[in-house]
Amino acid sequence: MTDWSRVEALSPPKLTELFAADPERVSRFSVDVAGIHFDFSKTHLDAEALAAFDALAKSANMAAKRDALFAGDKVNTSEDRAVTHVAERGEGAEEDSAKAAQLHARMRALIDAIEGEALGPVRHILHIGIGGSALGPELLVDALGRDTDRYDVAVVSNIDGVALEEVFDAFDPQATLVVVASKTFTTTETLQNAGSALAWLAEDGVEDPYGRVIALTAAPEKAIEWGVDETRVLPFADSVGGRYSLWSSIGFPAAIALGWDAFAELLEGAAEMDRHFKLTASHENAPVLAAFADLFYTQVRHAETRATFAYDERLRLLPSYLQQLEMESNGKGVTSDGVALDRPSAPITWGGVGTDAQHAVFQLLHQGTHLVPVEFVAVVEGGDALAEAHHSALLLNAFAQGAALMAGRANPDDPQRAYPGDRPSTTLLLDQLDPRTLGALIAFYEHRTFVSGALLGINPFDQFGVELGKEMAKAAGEGGGDFDASTRDLIHRAFAD
Ligand code: F6P
Repeated sequence: MTDWSRVEALSPPKLTELFAADPERVSRFSVDVAGIHFDFSKTHLDAEALAAFDALAKSANMAAKRDALFAGDKVNTSEDRAVTHVAERGEGAEEDSAKAAQLHARMRALIDAIEGEALGPVRHILHIGIGGSALGPELLVDALGRDTDRYDVAVVSNIDGVALEEVFDAFDPQATLVVVASKTFTTTETLQNAGSALAWLAEDGVEDPYGRVIALTAAPEKAIEWGVDETRVLPFADSVGGRYSLWSSIGFPAAIALGWDAFAELLEGAAEMDRHFKLTASHENAPVLAAFADLFYTQVRHAETRATFAYDERLRLLPSYLQQLEMESNGKGVTSDGVALDRPSAPITWGGVGTDAQHAVFQLLHQGTHLVPVEFVAVVEGGDALAEAHHSALLLNAFAQGAALMAGRANPDDPQRAYPGDRPSTTLLLDQLDPRTLGALIAFYEHRTFVSGALLGINPFDQFGVELGKEMAKAAGEGGGDFDASTRDLIHRAFAD
């Protein structure tokens, strides 16, 4: 039985007092792993909080749950299957890791063939997928692909044809490879977009449009039935969850655009984080400390959201990637035992890019009534070749915001100009943005999500909550569905002649 009593009784001093009381606080609450410095010192974690969370983790069998994940046990209990994204990095059960390596080899061979023009000339990659089949590859290519001109990659997810048409305008159909990414190969948006992409190829006179299609899926038989030749289907294991799938063949656009060596380094960076998570004591374990801090704010201080700000344009897609990872994983009101959760689940994850966000949403963070723990993600080595002043200003802004949130500023004469302070933040400082550090960063987020789920008793690996809306949209499309008066009226307004 998970025992929250010690955690709930926590009442740590103010952040500035924690710093004043402990000259070693920064090193005590910082962790360095895989080229990333994690600074948790501006959170309210202290020795007492760590002890309380350790006791909580023990009562929730956290270590056993983690070991079960790496052992390839069926930790996704509601769907009765294992969860093997760590095997994609070679850190899972032997058999799972071997299977993943085999499928990676198949992907690599196809990439070699494409590079050798076995499918004809290819300059553009049109990747079609949604959710976990789009957000990960898009993040990778956007973050790491700016200096490579190997291929142009566009990721299209939305059923809104505007998204697809933008790519049709930019790409030459005769030199485009269409990549259809769908774990289930049943997702409406993806199949409809893929159908329209095929029609676009055909309209331009591409002789064998299906010959220009690659499928990335855990349901290869469905892709084949849909028309993709078996040799161009890149399967991955059903036990790899959609939002955990960028390491599998779903990462194809990154692997082809960045090159295989880069993709292998990405996997190795993630593996480094896996080993850190598996082997490091809780007080020096980055994902565990991050989850402890998250839970302190949601469960004890009643924070409803957490905001991540990437102080680096290359990481501008990170907040939306995290939204799916965290909210689809832990946004649940029932535990894995089927009992209603008696506490808040995952916080709402949001964020943006610094310094832009400072001029838009930081007002609320500094003076609003909501408590919003903030996470800053910054990179020491900049991605631009402009004068050094740009990147140093970027970094200094990130650091100054964390300092200002914590210190606040009193103003006895004018409360409107006062800053309450004591507002927590964590800072993740990457030495540089390369495949290894990005792999480690994403794996860090995965494990932090896992720890939060484990401590809350949630199964982070299913997503039944997305089904109802899908079903109702389908019913509406078929002219059926038992809708309320407002929805009937909207449908009538949109579709009546
Ligand atoms: O609707 C949610 C979801 O099932 C996500 O979990 C998944 O990443 C996305 O849809 C896409 O699913 P698929 O890869 O099967 O097309």
